[in-house]
Amino acid sequence: RSAVLKSTSELLRRSRRGYSSSATPERKVAILGAAGGIGQPLALLMKINPLVSSLSLFDIAGTPGVAADVSHINSPALVKGFMGDDQLGEALEGSDVVIIPAGVPRKPGMTRDDLFNINAGIVKGLCTAIAKHCPNALVNMISNPVNSTVPIAAEVFKKAGTYDEKKLFGVTTLDVVRAKTFYAGKAGLPVSEVNVPVVGGHAGITILPLFSQATPASNSLSQEDIVALTKRTQDGGTEVVEAKAGKGSATLSMAYAGAVFADACLKGLNGVPDVVECSYVQSTVTELPFFASKVRLGKNGVEEVLGLGELNDFEKQGLENLKGELKSSIEKGIKFAHGN
Ligand code: NAD
Ligand code: LMR
Repeated sequence: RSAVLKSTSELLRRSRRGYSSSATPERKVAILGAAGGIGQPLALLMKINPLVSSLSLFDIAGTPGVAADVSHINSPALVKGFMGDDQLGEALEGSDVVIIPAGVPRKPGMTRDDLFNINAGIVKGLCTAIAKHCPNALVNMISNPVNSTVPIAAEVFKKAGTYDEKKLFGVTTLDVVRAKTFYAGKAGLPVSEVNVPVVGGHAGITILPLFSQATPASNSLSQEDIVALTKRTQDGGTEVVEAKAGKGSATLSMAYAGAVFADACLKGLNGVPDVVECSYVQSTVTELPFFASKVRLGKNGVEEVLGLGELNDFEKQGLENLKGELKSSIEKGIKFAHGN
């Protein structure tokens, strides 16, 4: 069962008994872009997370309605809505985790990199405010292109003197969620028991699922199946963009994935041991300065960036193939952050 579902049933049990645990530390979570397609269902999922005591919903428009709506749910988190730049500081103040799904989504025919021109500026502005108002928060970057927006955030924080590489995460959980779903379906395994690491980045061939390390292992899949599963995971976002036919990209599965990852960050902050998720972070796993791999989360954010484990020849080739694109996306982000 997912962490979110477990948290939800725990919450319901506690509210039936009429108390909430005093041992759970107070935690403030801010969502920037909270009135959007991802932001709204993510606000719902964070509101029902019992680890959240304060939920701050920020957007350039629409947050009063979202906040009023979500605030009526009978869970402990206190919800406040904030709208417009002059309320951004208050929205961020005291945050432990800031989740950023602000920015434009893809339409059919676009790559994630086509979003760079608009989203790079949005991310830069929001990260400048984070450096000022909650420099110690863990930042969960959802806005695309993640391969570039994370390096932009790092440069903004470096310039402000607040950069801590342990606290900046590109959210690649949706790739893991997809790999698990597709693998379990093809192998005929119970999806809730399946795990698949996904490494690299978050766009096309930079998304590298490691099905050789999937658990439980399956001996019913051919190499042809693995190639098809890899391609479907890499193209998962495009599959949704095309199905939505101009009305945006993944929002509901992304909100779920974002909630799983934020929950893992909160558990790590609260000292829960052995919390491991894949994320795109500053890394020495390869020669690239940012790379997604398994990461152990702890009281200060990243406790340990875990290695790749053993790759088979197909995965080794996939790793070599992704490096050029990932490198140029990282460089593009860094250049933007310096030049503007
Ligand atoms: P959306 O257009 O529905 O919502 C985006 C929200 O951001 C809007 O409410 C908008 O008002 C808000 N916004 C714009 N500028 C802002 C600013 N300066 N400050 C605060 N809020 C601002 O889009 P969406 O479908 O929610 O997608 C959001 C982003 O998430 C896109 O860039 C998309 O590509 C990305 N995404 C990433 C993943 C991933 O796996 N990392 C998955 C899905 C989508
Ligand atoms: C996804 O993987 O669904 C997101 O990155 C959105 C997109 O543009 O595909």
